[in-house]
Amino acid sequence: MDNHTMTVSAVSPEMDTVDELKLKIEQLQKENAGLRQDLADANIEIEAVVDEFQRTQVEIEQAKKDVERAKEQAERANNVKSAFLASMSHELRTPLNSIINFSKFVAQGVMGPVNDEQREALGEVIDSGKHLLSLINDVLDMSKIEAGALRLFMEDNVNVTTLLESALSTAKSLVADKPVDVTLEIEKTLPLIRADRQRLLQVMLNILSNACKFTEKGSIRIKAHNNDDTVVLSVTDSGPGIAKEDQAAVFEPFKQTDTGLRQGGGTGLGMPISRKLAEAHGGTLWLESQKGEGATFFVAIPVTKPATSPSA
Ligand SMILES: Nc1ncnc2c1ncn2[C@@H]1O[C@H](COP(=O)(O)OP(=O)(O)O)[C@@H](O)[C@H]1O
Ligand SMILES: [Mg+2]
Repeated sequence: MDNHTMTVSAVSPEMDTVDELKLKIEQLQKENAGLRQDLADANIEIEAVVDEFQRTQVEIEQAKKDVERAKEQAERANNVKSAFLASMSHELRTPLNSIINFSKFVAQGVMGPVNDEQREALGEVIDSGKHLLSLINDVLDMSKIEAGALRLFMEDNVNVTTLLESALSTAKSLVADKPVDVTLEIEKTLPLIRADRQRLLQVMLNILSNACKFTEKGSIRIKAHNNDDTVVLSVTDSGPGIAKEDQAAVFEPFKQTDTGLRQGGGTGLGMPISRKLAEAHGGTLWLESQKGEGATFFVAIPVTKPATSPSA
């Protein structure tokens, strides 16, 4: 053993190398142990991250389910609202129509002789009934629009001229007792358009009924012309006009300007409904006016060609 030691110590440099190597190995082993520890630590961290990730995924799944449930609830509520509106529409209108119709029969003498006084009283019943019916229709239309439940019955080849002629005769009857001249001016080359005939007529009658209501003397001019791919309908009256600062309110539900409030009777729903109806056609509705200078209401409806027509 000694001998060996002697031998080794005799070769000093080699001995150093061995010690150094031993030292290095020890060092490396230590480092290795350190690295193992680091790796273990990193593993623990990774596991924690994976855990966290899985927890987050569970939370996301839960949130998704919550959103799904909220959506289903909203849809159910919306369906209930639509069903309620549909049944209200029926329940209110049916008896009202029968009040109006039976009053008409009686007034016409179908059920026996009526004197002038009775006929006049029945006339009041009929007028009030019709007014109430139009209010109910407006409130129901507005509710449908707000519930996103308004459906248009679009037809191809709607003739704007025929539609405006019918609106003209209604307007004339509305100003029969006032010195107001109602005219209709239609461009000769007006194209047929794709529209919901009833709803478009409703828009024009809403605008015209306002013009007739607020114009005491002068004129109401109904016009239609073609502008690129749009048919522009307009109604210009010589009434009180609408101040710039009041113009936005005209299109807000249940809002009336002083003119409307002074006149009484309205609900402030005609214009908001009409604008929504124009927009549902892909069109627009706007007004131009100055206080004391009359007002013009414009309705622009796109001329959508029928899908079956040959493309140019
Ligand atoms: N041609 C018009 N001239 C002056 N004011 C108008 C005219 N059209 C509408 N307005 C104003 O806009 C308001 C809203 O109109 P509308 O929505 O049809 O409601 P309503 O006719 O029930 O009052 C009216 O109350 C009136 O103040
Ligand atoms: Mg109105």
